[in-house]
Amino acid sequence: MKHITMDITDVLSSTIGDEGIDGTSLREVASKINEFKKSLYKTPYPFMDFQLIRSHLGDIHEITKSLGELKIKNLVLLGIGGSSLGTETIFHALLHPLHNIEEDARGKKPRYFILDNIDPVRIKSVVELVKRDKEETLLIVISKSGETPETMSQFMIFKEILKSSKDYKKRIVIITDKNKGMLREIVKKEGYPSLPVPEGIGGRFSVLTPVGMFPSSVMGLNIEEIINGAQAMSEHIDKADYRKNLAVVLASILYIMDMKGKHIHVMMPYCEKLNAFADWFRQLEAESLGKKGMGPTPLKSTGVTDQHSQLQLYIDGPKDKCITFLYCGGITQPIPNSIPYIDGLDYLGAKDMAELFHAEFLGTRRSLTEAKTPHLTITLNEVSLFNIGALFFLYEMVIAFMGFMYNVDAFDQPAVELGKIYTKAIMGKKGLEDKRLTIEKELKEKRSVIEF
Ligand code: PA5
Repeated sequence: MKHITMDITDVLSSTIGDEGIDGTSLREVASKINEFKKSLYKTPYPFMDFQLIRSHLGDIHEITKSLGELKIKNLVLLGIGGSSLGTETIFHALLHPLHNIEEDARGKKPRYFILDNIDPVRIKSVVELVKRDKEETLLIVISKSGETPETMSQFMIFKEILKSSKDYKKRIVIITDKNKGMLREIVKKEGYPSLPVPEGIGGRFSVLTPVGMFPSSVMGLNIEEIINGAQAMSEHIDKADYRKNLAVVLASILYIMDMKGKHIHVMMPYCEKLNAFADWFRQLEAESLGKKGMGPTPLKSTGVTDQHSQLQLYIDGPKDKCITFLYCGGITQPIPNSIPYIDGLDYLGAKDMAELFHAEFLGTRRSLTEAKTPHLTITLNEVSLFNIGALFFLYEMVIAFMGFMYNVDAFDQPAVELGKIYTKAIMGKKGLEDKRLTIEKELKEKRSVIEF
């Protein structure tokens, strides 16, 4: 079986009528994207530059090796958005589901805590854990800007704890811009090991750089294989005919669907290991394309769980959705015939959970086809390092192509920046007094509230 297969039958008008895409529109958009692709491969975006990506591997391995002599029991990653979602995706896909809970499941690898939020409840619990294990905790601080308040405040907390432990400077690794930002200034002053977020590669496109590869390397994952998968996908996108080109066809479908009023793009893995991939995709699509009053709304669902939560809406609700299923079979779990005296359970007894999972997946797809809700399926032959790398790169390219179609800059996030400025103003950052006054005034004004 091929590594990755995409079945688009159920987005086509030949299957679902007017709710689907006709061959002519698909070809028109795909050939436009294909022309753009050709020019892009002549002058690639930095995230497509595999020489650049591989150039950091030596330093990643060296720092990982230097950690070998320290006993690392906990990996605490501080970072938010593009600085953490890629690692979360890799760990979720490739580590044992009980990694943090069972020693046998994780072997000699550290437990991991990815702090992508600052809710004090969660922070406090990890603070307590790190206080207990401070000699055995590795802190990885990731921020491209080196200034994000969530990450910086977390760093201030954990540095204070670690600084009274032996060799703590070897156990704080900082990944940030090579030249700019406060974190870089701190690296220079305090001398922590550090790796760069390469120039021109923004957070959500940075998973293949030290941002995602260093934590993966510490976890003992073969990062070369992730990058090999991504590069093989890049070669496919570069070379394959546009009608058989995964990225060109997928970008065309998602774009046309949005134009046809299917503004909600659901990603629904039938494969728990790929659940976090849907979170990563959600950020990539939303933050890259949500601009100038345009952009599809990505939504995450989980198969089969959300059959009992969302599926009613997808089938019988507004016709504003296009669903991408991610599927990967594999592991089996027999269902013993342990309740033989109930006739109605005989169709489950002595079968396998994988069969039931697959049947539910096929059943869901069939019901959506009958309801004329467009959907496509991306099947992985296995959840492997190689395939995860390929999937990351596929979607990065899809979003870059869609950015071209919407005519927006897929790589900035001005609206997010504004929120960051207001946060800093409220917290009293110098130079932002006018913004602080705006908010204070607004809070004093009469507000429409309803009370209980
Ligand atoms: O994709 C992006 O650029 C953002 O999600 C950032 O990763 C996020 O805002 C965190 O920024 P930084 O890495 O500068 O701390």
